[in-house]
This record gives sequence, C-alpha cells and structure tokens, in this order.
Amino acid sequence: MQRTFIILKPDCVQRRLMGEVVSRFEAKGLNFVAMKMLRITPELAKQHYAEHVDKGWYPNLEGFITGGPVVAAVLEGLDAILVVREMLGATNGLKAAPGTIRGDFSSSQQMNLVHGSDGPESAAREIALYFNEDELCDFEPTITPWMRAADE
Ligand code: TYD
Ligand code: MG
Repeated sequence: MQRTFIILKPDCVQRRLMGEVVSRFEAKGLNFVAMKMLRITPELAKQHYAEHVDKGWYPNLEGFITGGPVVAAVLEGLDAILVVREMLGATNGLKAAPGTIRGDFSSSQQMNLVHGSDGPESAAREIALYFNEDELCDFEPTITPWMRAADE
C-alpha cells in the first residue's frame, strides 16, 4: 500500500467540482485517510512549491493557490502515487488526455484543479507539511474484497 497527497485547488472548490473529483478517486478504489479545508498562506505555498519558487511564473501561481480555500487530502491504495498522477493527466489542461480530471475539466496550465504528489519523497514531504500523524485515519474498508483479489 502507498499513500499520496492531493490538493483540490481553489478553482476546483470555486467551480463546485470537489464532489466530482472525490467521487472519481473513491470509485477507482483509493481510500481517503485524511482530508481538511484550509487557506494556503504565501509561506506554505513557498514550502509546498519549493522546486518552483525561482520560476518566472511562480508569483502568479502563488496568487492563485492562496486566492481561495483548498481541500488537502491523503489517499491510500496500491501504487497510489502513480495512479493519482495518471488520473490527473498532463499539467496543462489543454494537453491532458480526455478521461483524465484535467483533460475533462481544465483548459488551463495554471488552473488545473488538482495537485498530486509526483513521487514517494514528495508524497512523504507533502503529507507531513499539511497533516500531523494523528490526523491520518488508518482503516480497512469492508469493501476491499470486492475491489481486488486477495493476492494483488
Ligand atoms: P508542475 O510541478 O510542473 O506540474 P504538476 O502539477 O503536473 O506536477 O507545476 C506545478 C504547478 O504550477 C502546476 O500544477 C501548475 C503551475 N504551473 C504554472 O502555473 N505555469 C507553468 O508554466 C507550469 C509548468 C506550471
Ligand atoms: Mg509537480
């Protein structure tokens, strides 16, 4: 089992697409183990997007990500990091494949609705950045035997 971190970005919240996105992850078989609404501060944005702070487009990104409430969540599942990234699609909504979240709902490079960790290290770093250990709810959904074979 693997954990990954997602953010439903301000455009997702404002456009009333939270339910649609949560529903897709649930239907896929991913388990939500933590979730909260918050307002990202400029300080948190700089920590979250540390790898992008020096880019020319960073100030616009910071303005966007701090511009409204977001929902942060932790998802658990087999290969969860890769599965979520594939479900999001390419960064630019105009280039993201139909059937992906960005491909179906975004026509923007910046306003691409959902963030997902891009690897094990960033997942661990981002989960710790937004959640305390006691905010993560470990549980075994009773539906698991109907989601995949016991040896998968
Ligand atoms: P990036 O890590 O490249 O994309 P991803 O979210 O798919 O991992 O970039 C982080 C976010 O920065 C991206 O989701 C949208 C935003 N962004 C811009 O606003 N302008 C840009 O030119 C790029 C590349 C990204
Ligand atoms: Mg990235």
